[in-house]
Amino acid sequence: PAPLRLGIAGLGTVGVGVIKIVRKHAKLIEERTGRPVAITAVAARNRAKDRGVDLGKYDWEDDPVTLATRDDVDVYVELMGGSDGPAKASVEAAIAAGKHVVTANKALLAHHGQAIAEAAEAADVVLRFEAAVAGGIPVIKALTEGLAGNEITRVMGVMNGTCNYILTRMYDAELPYDVVFDEADKLGFLEADPQLDVGGIDAGHKLSLLSSIAFGTQVNFDGVELEGIERIKIEDIEQAADMGYRIKLLGVAQMTGRGLEQRMSPCLVPAASPLGQLEGGTNMVVIEGDSVGQIVMRGAGAGEGPTASAVMGDVMDIARGITISTFGKRATDLVPAKPAKATVP
Ligand code: HSE
Repeated sequence: PAPLRLGIAGLGTVGVGVIKIVRKHAKLIEERTGRPVAITAVAARNRAKDRGVDLGKYDWEDDPVTLATRDDVDVYVELMGGSDGPAKASVEAAIAAGKHVVTANKALLAHHGQAIAEAAEAADVVLRFEAAVAGGIPVIKALTEGLAGNEITRVMGVMNGTCNYILTRMYDAELPYDVVFDEADKLGFLEADPQLDVGGIDAGHKLSLLSSIAFGTQVNFDGVELEGIERIKIEDIEQAADMGYRIKLLGVAQMTGRGLEQRMSPCLVPAASPLGQLEGGTNMVVIEGDSVGQIVMRGAGAGEGPTASAVMGDVMDIARGITISTFGKRATDLVPAKPAKATVP
């Protein structure tokens, strides 16, 4: 069978991770999908940088739009990030050119997900974004496939590993926020704009995508009540610990009679609970469905291997010929969310 040909834009940790999996698991990928997956071309800002993988076999494009619309690309893999600019332009161009799109870009979809999903549907191409929410945890697949027979009553989660690192480290090492923030910076955990992490915005983007999928509503990031972790003091964490609680940046989305509640904010969780025990850097997603009850998924929410793992799951679904719509139903059937003020979780 003909190979499924990828064009990958963005060669940061995730892009490099995808290249490594495509090479390392070529045989397994073909056995599982029935066809080989090949990389045709790549695009990145810095050509000269040594990324520790041999890129010599792939064509280089400077412009992601050119990459996204090449005749020899079947799937455009967008791993650049950013809610607008080249990421948005290239994803739109790919769809217009009839290419499937796999992206890890939570900011893009939180702001433009509805329009992009409608465009993909109109063009009869597949749009997938498992890697955009909770990195390696296959939470979108869980909601759209394994739990498809449930009415989802609530989704919750710790979905920003950097904030969870900062809060966990403040507790473990009894260090103030500023010191731990600088540590996180040195470790390379922070987004280019750190406010996206510590302001709760990145986690809010992810929550807005999850609640859209869970409740069949159009993505409504503006409806997320957001509070970051910058104001959390070591004293708050110690007082919480004295009472048997931990502070976590927790997202909660639920559909109530009043409308859709979405909130991302620092919350007290019992120290002995799965959320309370969640170690720094990791993510946890809790899903509640009317038939299944409660499901807890825990794992790496960022990083080369875990995020590339989620990207490959989407790529391989496309290789298998699966066309399940991204949001669990047709984008044109998603209804506008009626936002409601969140009650205390
Ligand atoms: N800054 C994000 C985090 C990266 O810390 O979770 C993964 O989306």
